[in-house]
Amino acid sequence: MATERLAEIDALFSLAGRTALITGASGGIGAATARVLAAAGARVILIARNLDRLEEEAAHLRASGAEALALRADLGTEQGLEALVAALAAAGEAPDILVNNAGMIDRAAFDDVSRPGWDEVIGLNLTAPMFLTQALIPAMRARGWGRVVNIASILALQGKKNAHSYTASKHAIAGLTRSMAAELGQDGVCVNALCPGYIRTEINTVLQQDAGFGAMIAARVPLQRWGETADLAGPLLLLCSPAASYLNGHMLVVDGGMTAVH
Ligand SMILES: NC(=O)c1ccc[n+]([C@@H]2O[C@H](COP(=O)([O-])OP(=O)(O)OC[C@H]3O[C@@H](n4cnc5c(N)ncnc54)[C@H](OP(=O)(O)O)[C@@H]3O)[C@@H](O)[C@H]2O)c1
Repeated sequence: MATERLAEIDALFSLAGRTALITGASGGIGAATARVLAAAGARVILIARNLDRLEEEAAHLRASGAEALALRADLGTEQGLEALVAALAAAGEAPDILVNNAGMIDRAAFDDVSRPGWDEVIGLNLTAPMFLTQALIPAMRARGWGRVVNIASILALQGKKNAHSYTASKHAIAGLTRSMAAELGQDGVCVNALCPGYIRTEINTVLQQDAGFGAMIAARVPLQRWGETADLAGPLLLLCSPAASYLNGHMLVVDGGMTAVH
């Protein structure tokens, strides 16, 4: 009986037979996503610009018995995105799960926001998820099953100084998540967003070194600490798994309670 119940739980979260493509998988949240999805049985395709780091992650996954493929792509340019889509098509790759995770921030003050800086952040954080998803949806639609997870942020819900293009891109990805959910649900594809709080990765090294920011985290996050990429593993697996069968258009906030309290 206990074994049967465990099998039910396993079925809810098993990704056996599924292929997941994760952008920005050369480190941070993307690499952690690849690890948990591979642990749940998915074959994973890791995308980023730094092929050495991707190969290292892929080798680590293969050593633990998973199937992993590393592909270099610069998603910040239209040509880079098109080259990736062409390479996937040529290799016959048609992922069931897409995690749009690659992202960047420009910490310019309002007066210093430049047009190139703005375009770069919007291009990677918003435009790339839109058109990569558009390219990969036909195969999910044909199968009648798919999962798209957009990595947003608590800055999809709140504003912050010195993060104008980033905050705009994350609010926009929340809107895009909802509009995708509205249109793709009929094809069996669930589209959701994960909104992490402050998670210790390379994107916020400068904040980790700022004692004042550390004090703010301790004061404002009920769990009184930074998040670690491991804290996102369960929520990410949920959004990618059969367990998310009726979760669509949802913003899953994982921030230690920071935005839930005053
Ligand atoms: N850490 C946090 O506190 C936090 C909170 C909320 C949301 N997020 C979001 O989580 C996502 C992942 O961030 P992270 O914290 O894991 O940061 P990270 O460690 O800096 O990782 C960013 C990833 O994006 C890839 N990337 C950057 N530019 C790229 C490009 N032009 N083409 C392809 N890949 C590119 C990087 O790889 P390469 O350099 O090898 O290309 C890297 O794998 C981002 O969308 C970020 O906004 C993070």
